[in-house]
Amino acid sequence: MNEMNVMNETENMDERKVRISWQTLREKYIRFFTERGHHEIPSASLFPENDPSVLFTTAGMHPLVPYLLGEKHPRGTRLVDVQKCLRTDDIDQVGDDTHLTFFEMLGNWSLGDYFKDESISMSYDFLTNHLEIPVEKLAVTVFEGDDIVPADLESKAIWMRNGMKEEQIFPYGRKENWWGPAGRTGPCGPDTEIFYDMGKPKCGDECGPACHCGKYVEIWNNVFMAFSKNADGSYSTLSRKNVDTGMGMERILIAINGYRNVYESELFQPLVHALETLSGMRNEGEFELAFRIICEHVRASTFLLGDPKAVAPSNSEQGYILRRLIRRVIRMARKLGMRENILGHLAEVVIRQYGEVYPELVHNRDYILEQFAGEYGLFARTLDSGLKVAEKYFSGLDDTKTLSGDLAFRLYDTFGFPIEFTMELASEKGLRVNLQEFEEKYRQHQEMSRLGASEKFRGGLADDGEQTTRLHTATHLLNGALRRVLGEGVRQRGSNITAERLRFDFSFDRKLTIEEIREVERLVNQAIDEGIDVECLEMTVEAAKRGGAVGVFEDRYGETVKVYNIPGYSMEICGGPHAKNTSEIKSFKIGKEESSSAGVRRIKATIGTGP
Ligand code: ALA
Repeated sequence: MNEMNVMNETENMDERKVRISWQTLREKYIRFFTERGHHEIPSASLFPENDPSVLFTTAGMHPLVPYLLGEKHPRGTRLVDVQKCLRTDDIDQVGDDTHLTFFEMLGNWSLGDYFKDESISMSYDFLTNHLEIPVEKLAVTVFEGDDIVPADLESKAIWMRNGMKEEQIFPYGRKENWWGPAGRTGPCGPDTEIFYDMGKPKCGDECGPACHCGKYVEIWNNVFMAFSKNADGSYSTLSRKNVDTGMGMERILIAINGYRNVYESELFQPLVHALETLSGMRNEGEFELAFRIICEHVRASTFLLGDPKAVAPSNSEQGYILRRLIRRVIRMARKLGMRENILGHLAEVVIRQYGEVYPELVHNRDYILEQFAGEYGLFARTLDSGLKVAEKYFSGLDDTKTLSGDLAFRLYDTFGFPIEFTMELASEKGLRVNLQEFEEKYRQHQEMSRLGASEKFRGGLADDGEQTTRLHTATHLLNGALRRVLGEGVRQRGSNITAERLRFDFSFDRKLTIEEIREVERLVNQAIDEGIDVECLEMTVEAAKRGGAVGVFEDRYGETVKVYNIPGYSMEICGGPHAKNTSEIKSFKIGKEESSSAGVRRIKATIGTGP
């Protein structure tokens, strides 16, 4: 690109010419706007506060919603920041040149202060004079108008007055040139978007900034936020006219430094190099897609786990997105022939790279590595068998080439394949998945597990006979052993005892391995062999919790609860009754381990009989 255009600094990073590094860009941007009366504010968490309608902070404006709606901001009416963002909309495009889930957004705001003229003029000045991007490499879009808001001729005139030619300005409708709200309701408005021309030929006569052929990359968006969308779909005019802008860090680096894609930027190069070393392969040809997805998703997951409000991978909401990202990395790594856990190693690269700007990553390093190792442990073992089963399902499909929701659900329930993961496997083979059927199936199972939860107490003891009492004590030992073998995250989800057997449901995402089942059995039998006295203590719920007792039935009890303690093996809040000594159980054997519902496993087990 702009070889002609000598930048005022040249930095050498990874043997690549970096005209302006990302840190310098941050500084330049913040300085440019603070010199123009803006106050710098810190990046907020990736997990939005008080907004149940969105999972993540998707834009710099997100933490500012109350102020865009009229509240007074303590730092004034002009703000600037660099906000970490995560968007799931573009997840399927990750692997192309410019789409990302995680990115940093450089943003500046006017809260009822300046409007179109100053906003556009500052953007133009910053790009063309301070970053020295040649004006002919830019194109902009403006709102063409509809029945709510008229055509934005004013923005067009301001762009032209600044130096943009008419043929560089493209009017588009609501789909392209209206931004927001971020959730279901809230501030929004027409926008003017700035694009960088990658220098490729037009793909056709109609080719323009709205085209997805890769010629134009959106780098900055200036939203004229004068409206608020209401819950009924109508729009109100805000009392103040705001400006909300957002510029994508990785994309602006492309425009400044002449990269062909975001992975050439120094934000990704250390990761790409680390992966090349780990895999012994080059980031090119048929491996490029896997390389890109691994680097992108590891970076995003590291930021999610490193956030002050971090979640763990799970089957719902933010935890589920995190799980999807991580599991996709594990599969892509397999594609590159890597079976070991590379997540932690790559996370270290991300932490090193960003730790100074985002100290929370350094602070949460142990948690990040633990969670990556845990999720790898959960998924890596079932991935191969799951892939084999999926292969079998796919090859058995009829002419509709559509996998039933039932089978997709089995892959989810038994092997922990997120539905999007199964859809990706299918689409690689030109097949589809019946998503609607899957969702119905998923809902049914969720309802069943909810029902199970409300019946958890009714499903307790069948009678107080000696055998059921012993089975009850064995259930406590089983619960303790499961937590020891599978992790503290295991929670009781239901229990049912007949004179013949115990049945125990617990939260866990996959089938247990034979080794795990044997180890659980061994621990319970060890406790039986040790002949331990079962203690019954009375204490407050708080004291029980402090002492490490488990129990999901706290709500059934008053202030004081009974805690059954089998020292070294189990401590549970429980009404009893129980065996006096573990030796009364004689022996313990697991008969069956199976899925009970989404994320819940079921074990049936028997104990020794006789007096
Ligand atoms: N909120 C605007 C965007 O995300 C700036 O594009």
